[in-house]
Amino acid sequence: MKSYNIAVLPGDGIGPEVMEVALRILDLVGQEFNIKFNCKKESFGGSSIDKYGTPLTEETIRNCKKADSVLLGAVGGPQWENEPHDKKPEQGLLKLRRSLGLYANLRPAKIYSPLLKASSLKPDVIRKADVMVVRELTSGIYFGEPRGMDKKKGWNTLSYTREEVEQISHTAFKLARKRNNLVTSVHKSNVLESSQFWKDVVESVHKEYTDVTLNEMYVDNAAMQLVRDPKQFDVILTQNLFGDILSDISAMITGSLGMLPSASLGSKHSLYEPVHGTAPEIAGKNESNPLAMVASVAMMLDYTFNLPQAAQMIYDAINEVLELGYRTLDISSENTTLVTTSVMRDLILEKCADKSDTIIEMVRMSYEG
Ligand code: IPM
Ligand code: MG
Repeated sequence: MKSYNIAVLPGDGIGPEVMEVALRILDLVGQEFNIKFNCKKESFGGSSIDKYGTPLTEETIRNCKKADSVLLGAVGGPQWENEPHDKKPEQGLLKLRRSLGLYANLRPAKIYSPLLKASSLKPDVIRKADVMVVRELTSGIYFGEPRGMDKKKGWNTLSYTREEVEQISHTAFKLARKRNNLVTSVHKSNVLESSQFWKDVVESVHKEYTDVTLNEMYVDNAAMQLVRDPKQFDVILTQNLFGDILSDISAMITGSLGMLPSASLGSKHSLYEPVHGTAPEIAGKNESNPLAMVASVAMMLDYTFNLPQAAQMIYDAINEVLELGYRTLDISSENTTLVTTSVMRDLILEKCADKSDTIIEMVRMSYEG
């Protein structure tokens, strides 16, 4: 029996409750596909500050590095807002991304057809939209030095090296080849030197991918185009801060931030997390949407464990449950049935269990045939 170790970081707010759902799904996939997923919980974020005085301990970093992959809930909350800047829960997340070398953040925004009416965008605008935001994750203004603040000013540094831009460009072009062969490089080269540099480096990498079309777009225009006509995009390639902003906008293509999963990939490690935050106002109320977390598990099964059938089983289960009209609060609309986090979990588990027999048979036949 194959066996994988997964470091599990539930974090804060709704993090632990959506993680509980993820672990149940993983457990079921393990049983059905005859794989042992050893999931070990690690302290992280605000809860780690309360226990150890830091959002990310050396032990958590070590265990994440040792594991085959990392699954993360969400970090942060109002109770830690007044911590000194370098002790905030969010800094733990940044340090973790950097320590694991997770330079490529993939955020796929696509609507499940039953949710067309849940989005604030018109059905015609988002139907058939399928956008993959490829966000550089370990450099740019999030990490640049010098940085700081005093009584008179606050400052940060935005810079990119050639190597950093080349690395993320290769990720975007390779991904585009498996999709619709279009990369839009998003920057602000009319104002920022770092963006002119970004644009030039992306263009030079593009010479190795002439089968892929490269478009350029200023970030302000890209934000507007994403809500005006998202169908024009395939892969959006952009720097850390722009990717943070554009991926929240793209979440509306999925109907809710509670639907958007993500993968953070490096050359040695991988981490999967929902794009949403800790939603402190609903934490512990059994109201949160676990589907972004569940879809993040699917991305992990596909990208890290090479189990695309298991991933597809999860996506199909999500689609069917939505088709039946079940909704958590964030995606509920007229004529749908409002359910709690745990009911949503059971519905997805049930659908996965229904499907797995057929899928396993298909996988077996493909091995034999
Ligand atoms: C995200 C989040 C993080 C980021 C925060 C929590 C540090 O907004 O993953 O998009 O800014 O990267
Ligand atoms: Mg964000």
